[in-house]
This record gives sequence, structure tokens and C-alpha cells, in this order.
Amino acid sequence: MLTHLHACLQYRRSRPVRYVVAAFTAIFVVSTLYYLEIPHHPEGFQDELREHLPHWPLPIPISGGSESKTSPPVWEERAAQVKQAFLHAYRGYLQHANGYDELRPLSLAGVNNFNGWNVTMYDSLDTMLLMDLWDEFAEALPVVKEGNFRQLRASNGNGWNKSGYVPFFETVIRYLGGLLAAYAMSGEQVLLDRAHELATILEPAFGSSAGMPRFGVNPATGASSQGVSGVLAEVASCQLEWTYVAHATGNKTHFDRVDKLLHTLANAMEQRKGGMFPTHWHLNGGKATSESRSMGAAADSGHEYLLKQYLLTGKQDVESLEMYILTANEALTRLLYLTPNRELLYVTDTAGGSFTASHNFEHLACFFPGLLALGAHTVDLNAALAAIDPSKLSAEARRQYEVLSKYDLHALHMAAAEGLTTSCWLMYADQPSGLGPETVQMRHDWKFVGEDGKPKVNSKGKLWIDAVEEWNEGGRRGPLPGLGEKKTITQLRKEDGTAQADYSVRRPDYFLRPETLESIYLMWRTTGNPVWRERGWQIFQAIEREAKTPSGYASVKQINKSPAPQSDEQPSYFLAETLKYLYLLFKNEDLVPLDKWVFNTEAHPLPVFNWSSWEKHKFGIPS
Ligand SMILES: *[C@@H]1O[C@H](CO)[C@@H](O)[C@H](O)[C@H]1NC(C)=O
Ligand SMILES: *[C@@H]1O[C@H](CO)[C@@H](O)[C@H](O)[C@H]1NC(C)=O
Ligand SMILES: *[C@@H]1O[C@H](CO)[C@@H](O)[C@H](O)[C@H]1NC(C)=O
Ligand SMILES: *[C@@H]1O[C@H](CO)[C@@H](O)[C@H](O)[C@H]1NC(C)=O
Repeated sequence: MLTHLHACLQYRRSRPVRYVVAAFTAIFVVSTLYYLEIPHHPEGFQDELREHLPHWPLPIPISGGSESKTSPPVWEERAAQVKQAFLHAYRGYLQHANGYDELRPLSLAGVNNFNGWNVTMYDSLDTMLLMDLWDEFAEALPVVKEGNFRQLRASNGNGWNKSGYVPFFETVIRYLGGLLAAYAMSGEQVLLDRAHELATILEPAFGSSAGMPRFGVNPATGASSQGVSGVLAEVASCQLEWTYVAHATGNKTHFDRVDKLLHTLANAMEQRKGGMFPTHWHLNGGKATSESRSMGAAADSGHEYLLKQYLLTGKQDVESLEMYILTANEALTRLLYLTPNRELLYVTDTAGGSFTASHNFEHLACFFPGLLALGAHTVDLNAALAAIDPSKLSAEARRQYEVLSKYDLHALHMAAAEGLTTSCWLMYADQPSGLGPETVQMRHDWKFVGEDGKPKVNSKGKLWIDAVEEWNEGGRRGPLPGLGEKKTITQLRKEDGTAQADYSVRRPDYFLRPETLESIYLMWRTTGNPVWRERGWQIFQAIEREAKTPSGYASVKQINKSPAPQSDEQPSYFLAETLKYLYLLFKNEDLVPLDKWVFNTEAHPLPVFNWSSWEKHKFGIPS
């Protein structure tokens, strides 16, 4: 363990700077192979196909075309601008909101949204380390050392809230994740001590019989909240933090918590016989209470942690991997649709047992393409699919399995990742502000000519996987559905004044969220295509133009205006995630290699490790 941590600490100095050109050449060759869309069966057919099949378009043409020549020093300069943005946000917070959770960037005051424990500071620690901001880090350490996690501050003002609960999920991903990542990067023992103490305070949340965490804990009394229902994101997104705190402290209590939760999830998956987990859960039975499906709010990180738990523990936890594959199978076959105009690929949700798609597309769901790209980059997806026994699956999950087993799953996941990230980016690029809305409603009225020769409308929308099948059967003409060059609405209207958008904006706010930039970053790292860096740069410039205030950055109320009206919020995740992903996107050096670190859902990187033999003995992990 010590050797391992030592290796982590060294990574920044020992790793030679990687130049984009070299990486790009290598990745281009590999991606070209990936991008051959090859049926997975029959055996032995693939080499032959590789030579004859048309390539998927790669890279996507960039409008203007010259940006890909942007030289490495220009990217370093852009990374330096992101660092200045972080300093601007953090200094504004310290100056006007010190001792509070978050800055109110317009009224220049502080607000306590997450326990009143200075969440912006805790969330920012590892970003400071990545950006070489040693002074800020050194000033934060004594505050972290002395902070009192046993008392909860009132939301406004400085009094104590004696009856309130610390929200388990938010406290885990922001505070515990922040402490653990900063510990892994700096080796400062005080950060691990505080993480262990915080995990201990949160332990009572696991009191439900299935080991699913309750909503919150009163940190003074240790009482947990009494509600017995929860949503997927909140009951199934603590495995990474609990696993790493168990590994770093050697404490079996922490390990047992995550072990029990993982068993509950694996049992639930076995009883459900495949597919993705629904959104609503009963904590005591450890069972879903609805059939709603979502990749967005209330569900997102519950899906994300299945893959990431497998990666964090050195790819030993094959049950988590299998759950991830079954989740992706359902998402790819049932939640991905195309719009009629630009053929934009989007991921949506279904309510109740009817599986009727809402055709909402949420900013929060824009993490999903990055997750698909990460999975395709780190896992042999075809082998993982082949390891699943289809006879154990429900009829519907078996249908999904059979549809997908015809494809090279790696190529299919990467195609979905590319199409979805493109749509997430267009939600920004289409707007006058250059910033993306919180939720849009996608058009899904596909017109076609019926057998009677009359025009008809398919109002249920077009599933992506059906369009891919048609494309395959129809001789693969043009780009794969949802891929290829996509124009912005402004570009289209220049060509045709009547061009219509593919969606209507339902919530026009941009809450300084990271998901689209997270996927753009992961697309850049996994494909080496510089178009993603350029798109990230456009978004950063829009943030500078529309969201910057004299003392920080403000969420934007209406993305359809420029200058955009602002709201009085600077969320801590803007410093933990949004600016971190931008910085990593522009740095030429790969500071957080994807095979060595796993980002928690608040973008706090935890180091990949293997359980040692003594840990296996102590914790009872089968070898
Ligand atoms: C938050 O910051 C204030 C001001 O520096 C400090 O007094 C307090 O102990 C801190 N609390 C925590 C939990 O870090
Ligand atoms: C105390 O915390 C609870 C939630 O845990 C909240 O509903 C209540 O408004 C808080 N009271 C104050 C004064 O902040
Ligand atoms: C392990 O953690 C549990 C719960 O946080 C705590 O009660 C216990 O004292 C710890 N054990 C050791 C040996 O530190
Ligand atoms: C974990 O073990 C595997 C195989 O035993 C090895 O290839 C890998 O490098 C190890 N990972 C770490 C982080 O030590």
C-alpha cells in the first residue's frame, strides 16, 4: 500500500510530457481499427471484413478546419487561463464567503447549502494540487484539520442546526471524495484522518437491513433519517469512496459497508434478471419500487459507479462489470433516440411500467457518453458481453443481449459516445450565449410514407438502435445514424431561413454544470481527436463571457440570451469538476491517466489499486 501511494505521489514528476502529435498518431491508428463496425459473429470473419468495410467518418470535420493545427504551447496557455479562472472563483469565495459553503457571486455573501462546513474549500483541494496552487492548498490544510464535522450549521447565518441531517450522498461525493483524492495526491495524513472520521460519522446511514444508505445522519446524535425510500443515485453512489477509505485505513467496518451494498445490488440484479436499475428504491428490502428508467437526475451516478467500482479495484469485481454491461445494454437499446431534423442522438428516460419515453434530454445525462467512452477504453467489452449467460436473463434483457451481440460492442459504445457528446455540445453551440440548457424536450415526430402511400407520423420517435440496424441492412450509406458532421442552428438558418431546431428548451438555466465538459474531456483522452479540445475551448470562452462576475462566476438563467441574465449561485462543483475537466482537457501532459485513476462522480480522482493478500485475509475477499 505504501509503495503504491508512493508511486501515486511520483506520477507528476516521473511521467514524461506527452506531446499531442505522438499521442494522436498512435490513437488515430487504434481508433481507425475501433471504428470499423464489425459484426461480432461469426468467428474468423473479422479480419476479412476489416479490409473491405467502409470506415466510419473519423475525425469529424471541424468547421473552419484549421483548429486542429493548434499547437501544444497554445493549449498550455489555455490551461493557464483555466487556472486563472479557478483562482478568480476561489479568491472570490474566500474574500466574501469564508466560513460558508458557497459564494453568492452577485450579492457577495456566503450561503450554507451543504452542512456549513466550507464545501467549496473541500471540493477544491485536489483541483489546487493538479493546478500547482501550493499556497492555496497550504492555507486550506489547517482549516480542514480543525473543522468540526459533529455540528451542522444553519442554512443562513452562523447558528447551529441541532435537529438537521447531513445529506449522505452529497457529503460523500463532495467532502469525503474531496478529502480522499487530495490525500491520494498529496500524502497528507491529516486528510486521511479527517476522511476516516467523516466516514465514521456517516456510518449510521447504513442502518437499513439491506445496507442501502438512508438520506442523512444527524452528526451530533448519530441518528439517521427515517425515510425508507430513496433514489438510485443516492442509494448506490458511495462504493468508490467507501472502498478507498477501507483500503487506505485498513478498516474492516468500512469495507463491510460497501461489501453489503454491493451484495444487495448484485442480488437485485439477479432477481431482476438483467437490464438497468430503475430509479426508485425501498431501502429495507433493497428492491426497486418503480420501473422508471433514467440516465439523468436521481439515477445517473448509480449507473456510473458500477463500471467505476470495477476499475478502481483493479478489475477484480466482475459482478459490478456485469451489472454495467447489462445497464448499457438496456440504455443502448431502449433509451437512445434520434431527432428527425439533424438526426441528433440523445438519451432520455421512461416513466412507470409502460416504458414510454419522455424525450426529455437532461444536461445531467451528458455524463453518459463519457462513461461509455471510458468503458470502451479500459474494458474488453466484447469479452464482457460474452461472459454473460443469456439463459439467466429475463426475456427483455435477453432480447437486448441478442440485438447487441451482433455488433462489435466496442465500436458501438464508441459510436454512441461520439453521437451523444456531439449532441451535448450542440446544446451549447446552438445558443446565443454558447452555454447549454438544463433540460430540453427533443422532437420525435418522424414522418414517413405508409403502405397506403399516405404521409404518416411516427410520434413515438426513432430508436437509435433501429436506425443502426436499418443502416447496416441498407448498405451502410453515409455516416452511422447520429454521427457525422452536425451544423449548429445558426449555420443551418444561414443556409435556409426556415430551419427548425430539433428541440424546445424546457429549463433555460445553465448551472455551471460539468457533465458535457466531462464527456468532452473523456472523448479527447480516448480518441485523441482535437475537435473535442476546440469545443471545450468554445465553452470555456462562453463561461468567461457570460458567467464571470467581478468576484467569481454565476449560474446563468437564460442561455438563449447574450449577455445572459445571471443568478446568485456559484456551486462548489464548478471548482471541483467544471474547471478541473477544462484544465485537464487543455494540459498537454496527461495528469490523471485513465488506467491509474478513477474519477468519483464529483470529479475527485481515486487511485486504482489491487487488494493485497493481507487485505483479502482481513476483509474476507475471495481470491
Ligand atoms: C470552515 O471555515 C471556518 C472559517 O475558516 C472555520 O472556522 C471552520 O472550522 C471551518 N469548518 C470546517 C468543517 O472546515
Ligand atoms: C436544519 O436542517 C434541516 C434538514 O436537515 C432543514 O430542513 C432545516 O431547514 C434546517 N434548519 C435551519 C435553521 O437551517
Ligand atoms: C474502524 O471504523 C469503525 C467505524 O468507523 C470504528 O468504529 C472503529 O473504531 C475503526 N477501527 C479501528 C481499528 O480503527
Ligand atoms: C493489479 O494486478 C494486475 C495483475 O495482477 C497488474 O497487471 C496491475 O498492474 C496491478 N495494478 C496495480 C495498480 O497495482
